[in-house]
Amino acid sequence: MSSSQGVRVKVPASTANLGPGFDTLGMALSRYSWLELKEADHTAFHLIGDEMKGLPTDKSNLIYQVSQMVFAEAGKTLPELEISMYSDIPLTRGLGSSASAIVGALAAANALIGSPLPDSKLFDMATNLEKHPDNVGASLFGGIIAASWDGTHADYVRIEPPANLGTLVVIPDFQLSTSKAREALPAQVSLADAVYNISRSSLLTAALFAGRLDLIRAAMQDRIHQPYRAPLVPGMSRILAEAPDRGALGIALSGAGPTLIALLDLNESGVDELRHYLLDTMQAEGISASCYQLHPVAEGVQLLDDIKNKTFLDMIRGEVTA
Ligand code: HSE
Repeated sequence: MSSSQGVRVKVPASTANLGPGFDTLGMALSRYSWLELKEADHTAFHLIGDEMKGLPTDKSNLIYQVSQMVFAEAGKTLPELEISMYSDIPLTRGLGSSASAIVGALAAANALIGSPLPDSKLFDMATNLEKHPDNVGASLFGGIIAASWDGTHADYVRIEPPANLGTLVVIPDFQLSTSKAREALPAQVSLADAVYNISRSSLLTAALFAGRLDLIRAAMQDRIHQPYRAPLVPGMSRILAEAPDRGALGIALSGAGPTLIALLDLNESGVDELRHYLLDTMQAEGISASCYQLHPVAEGVQLLDDIKNKTFLDMIRGEVTA
């Protein structure tokens, strides 16, 4: 049985890697995508907002494709769908927009047919599509995720974000595709660099679990991806070196970039100084950028149950201005 009214989900953005935890650590952030799926007579798309411009409005659309994977996995046939989507997550900037679309489609399609697939199955399917579990794990489960992927199955532990942990993201006004940012990486790294990252990633995971924000500066260091990606983001090397002396607990490239994410102690002041520093440094490199304070969010993808009372557009208006 599918729901004739359709289903709606809200999916958080995410940051991946957190510096040393390349393809392993992720954290859900307070920017969102909303998706509605309904069974229909003919497939139709309502892709609303600037971030949706240029996306396919035929059956090659990612949301449609991923939904069909869920139905096939569950042995169901729902070939025609009405798909509505709005996203506040900037595309191709390192804040997990594609992961949020995949997770939203998996969760909504599963809910539409009565949720036959467990979350662990959705996580494996999402990771198989993204090829790394960091962003999709955070969008699916919320909080901070430490995850591994063996090519078939993803294992994870979810960590509750420390209560006083905040973030400041600086989003440059240019796009950087994950594939381009991965092409910059070497095929091999030295044992010394591998050990450098393993130790920091382990320390960071344990520090976040224990709420030891004092260790973030030492732990949020990387030698296996950021040095190779730095030439793709003007100002990045300087910002990574200097931001911890300008009020950041630590700073990293967010996922594959070009966004940079600073972790903050919300009990400390100085966020305005850090914001000015980040924007001024980008500007000195000729890069215009936007800076936002985002919050780690404990909740992953949520099924919204107010579908009877409001149209999708009215619901979005309420959510976005809320
Ligand atoms: N861990 C991935 C990377 C995230 O850094 O390439 C990209 O979305």
